[in-house]
Amino acid sequence: MIKILVTGAAGFIGHHLVKLLIREGNYEILGLDNINDYYDTRLKWARLAESGIEQSRTIYGQSVTSTTYPNYAFVQMDLADRKSMEALFDNHPFQVVVNLAAQAGIRYSLENPHSYADSNLTGFLNILEGCRKIKVEHLVYASSSSVYGLNAKMPLDTHDHTQHPISLYAATKKANEMMAHSYSHLFGIPTTGLRFFTVYGPWGRPDMAPMLFATAIHQGKPIKVFNNGDMYRDFTYVDDIVQGVYQAILKPAQPSPDWNSAKPDPSISSAPYRIINIGNADPVKLGDFITEMEEAMGKVAIKEMHPLQPGDVLITNAEVTDLVEQYGYRPKVKLKEGVRSFVDWFKSYYA
Ligand SMILES: NC(=O)c1ccc[n+]([C@@H]2O[C@H](COP(=O)([O-])OP(=O)(O)OC[C@H]3O[C@@H](n4cnc5c(N)ncnc54)[C@H](O)[C@@H]3O)[C@@H](O)[C@H]2O)c1
Repeated sequence: MIKILVTGAAGFIGHHLVKLLIREGNYEILGLDNINDYYDTRLKWARLAESGIEQSRTIYGQSVTSTTYPNYAFVQMDLADRKSMEALFDNHPFQVVVNLAAQAGIRYSLENPHSYADSNLTGFLNILEGCRKIKVEHLVYASSSSVYGLNAKMPLDTHDHTQHPISLYAATKKANEMMAHSYSHLFGIPTTGLRFFTVYGPWGRPDMAPMLFATAIHQGKPIKVFNNGDMYRDFTYVDDIVQGVYQAILKPAQPSPDWNSAKPDPSISSAPYRIINIGNADPVKLGDFITEMEEAMGKVAIKEMHPLQPGDVLITNAEVTDLVEQYGYRPKVKLKEGVRSFVDWFKSYYA
């Protein structure tokens, strides 16, 4: 059994990853999450309950084993809680750590910058220190397509430099990549940073467009359409994302001996460090996404037009050659199919 820590286990992507690892069967999984109230905590507890973790049995800082899956335990803990995180790593010699916990959201970072520093910077440092102490075999962590910021060359490529983030959220994700590189270089920790592109699917996040749209359409309320719907997003179905995370787990980052420090490729290094995009590589116009959603919901949306929001980019489109070549894998769920299964879940969950 491979001992693995998955942070953000009560979150959208973490929940799906835990389910995939449970299905794989050869992992002893510890899920961690602080269950903060950035969005409705009932959704977080409901995700955990689906994996056999009951709220009534959890005590902060103490792990509780799933009632359904003996290989899965969960601990409520804050990444930024240094003492508790030190004790966690002292007691658990994880072979693999997957860090998905973070303060997510671009717009929220304009109003609440400090929570990004706590979770994404201090929290990530505690993860790195824990990995250093236990000499982890591989650290895989969530980065984001938002690090591309002002880069206009399409598709967005990990081999291009990303020095111009346009939100604090993106800046903290970029900082994670830099922090990981320093630990890969100094302590030989294999680290893989995964830049996810707009993830959607069942158990999705209430602050993101698919859930906001579905909720408003269901309630007959207007949806906010930014930039007249003239924005493109590389919507990526959550099963494709966690399959990519799983492929990354299986292949710890290696040093690249041919890496040229005079002309440094930012996606690799002389250290065991790697940055990979996980995206559908098929950007969809926001207006078309809304049409797909209307069809699946069986109802037309009332649209309220708004200008482009600060921190938002116009197009995201992932270059995925490395994903395909290194992991032998590419996202495959088509928008229609993905939106249908999201809407099916939405209707049953909120029934
Ligand atoms: N969903 C997307 O489209 C997307 C795109 C790019 C990157 N990402 C990244 O992927 C990761 C997972 O995203 P998600 O969509 O599942 O978000 P999510 O908010 O649903 O999940 C994150 C989880 O982390 C937990 N968390 C936050 N701060 C914590 C802390 N200090 N200590 C412990 N737990 C904490 C939250 O309670 C939450 O359950 C995040 O790092 C996010 O930045 C997501």
